Amino acid sequence: MTALEKKHAVIIEAPDEVEKNEPFEVEVRVGEYKEHPNEPGHFIEWMELYQGDTFLARLDLTPEKSHYVMKTTIKLDHAHPLKAWAKCNLHGLWEETKEIKIK
Ligand SMILES: [Fe+2]
Repeated sequence: MTALEKKHAVIIEAPDEVEKNEPFEVEVRVGEYKEHPNEPGHFIEWMELYQGDTFLARLDLTPEKSHYVMKTTIKLDHAHPLKAWAKCNLHGLWEETKEIKIK
């Protein structure tokens, strides 16, 4: 991982396996390996969570005052990877996916 990749790495925290249509918590965050700046000239503008092409959640952020962690509760009715995006105002879009099995 380069320093740029470490700062922008998107993490999806969620169970590996869930019950069909049972709500569960998901956390999406940025900069697990190296802290990303959070100042007017350089910050994470927004984060989004999808399952495949299906939109699930979005968080808009403002520099200095809000931190780039998005927590939400979702439920799934079929197995398809979760996909999270984070948009840095200087370095563009960063993406992560996570497979979740459905019981
Ligand atoms: Fe950045």
